Amino acid sequence: MLNPTSATFTLNTGAKIPAVGLGTWQSKPNEVREAVKVALQKGYRHIDTALAYENEEEVGQGIRDSGVPREEIWITTKLDNPWHHRVEEGITSSLKSLGVDYVDLYLMHWPSSTDPKDLKKHLPDWNFVKTWQELQKLPASGRVKNIGVSNFAIRNLEILLNDPSTKIVPAVNQIELHPNNPSPKLLEYCKAKGIHCTAYSCLGSTDSPLYKDAQLKALAEAKGKSVQQVLLKWGLQRGTSVIPKSVTASRIESNFELDGWELTDEEMTKLSSLPDRFKVCGDEWLPVKVFFGDDE
Ligand SMILES: NC(=O)c1ccc[n+]([C@@H]2O[C@H](COP(=O)([O-])OP(=O)(O)OC[C@H]3O[C@@H](n4cnc5c(N)ncnc54)[C@H](OP(=O)(O)O)[C@@H]3O)[C@@H](O)[C@H]2O)c1
Repeated sequence: MLNPTSATFTLNTGAKIPAVGLGTWQSKPNEVREAVKVALQKGYRHIDTALAYENEEEVGQGIRDSGVPREEIWITTKLDNPWHHRVEEGITSSLKSLGVDYVDLYLMHWPSSTDPKDLKKHLPDWNFVKTWQELQKLPASGRVKNIGVSNFAIRNLEILLNDPSTKIVPAVNQIELHPNNPSPKLLEYCKAKGIHCTAYSCLGSTDSPLYKDAQLKALAEAKGKSVQQVLLKWGLQRGTSVIPKSVTASRIESNFELDGWELTDEEMTKLSSLPDRFKVCGDEWLPVKVFFGDDE
């Protein structure tokens, strides 16, 4: 993929998801509207948000400010955990906040059906298979073009895919992927099932801490690229879409300067073999365990 900024990955529905998108988690009010506008004007055509980020309204404003026609933009949003038994309400709320008639991709944010009255508890009479049954009704309405999941490990994907009620294989699994959490088994499993993976926290998340890695730094310097550009190319060359977050115009722009160069096989292997392992988004805050350490 020599020119990822105009490239797409084809999903199991036939839809084409732009390879590079803008992440918006922790993008604060008064920052995210401008960030989305700057990104779209630079050429980004994929924006990732979520009900839980509490910024869908500003994301929608940024989209309108950009002047880029809606049909040229891929919008992903996500169903929040305490909304699992209220899928219809969840999508209605997201569409209203974003100010759009449809989203391109609607994800179950986490495989945790959290009790809205007590976020430390799981709903006693619900689970993510039931949530998926509700999500499966949405594409027919035209308000959601594709449905998928996020933070699903192999164990939970097996439960979902083997359930007789599952008629639609998720188009996407959005998961944490960077050289310190490369998850090769999970990637391989998703590929075998026809599920595209989007890499979140692809820069190592808040403050992009991977820039401190000496090997990564040396490799980026030798190529005359920034560490973040190298991280994004690593993700793209593994066949995953990437959604780097930034609210800084110069970074939004440089994170999109990815065309016309590649990482060699040797460089890819080196980056996939960095000794440190860490995960940014754990499951301690959820009422159920969702990561099992066996597919990473
Ligand atoms: N599905 C899920 O559960 C889930 C979980 C986490 C994230 N996500 C999605 O994935 C997106 C990306 O993940 P993330 O937000 O965790 O982190 P990330 O994209 O890995 O990193 C974002 C951080 O890197 C900084 N940064 C960006 N470009 C940079 C550059 N060129 N040089 C130096 N620093 C740079 C940003 O700072 P500034 O903004 O200050 O520039 C921000 O602090 C999220 O925004 C969200 O849309 C999904």
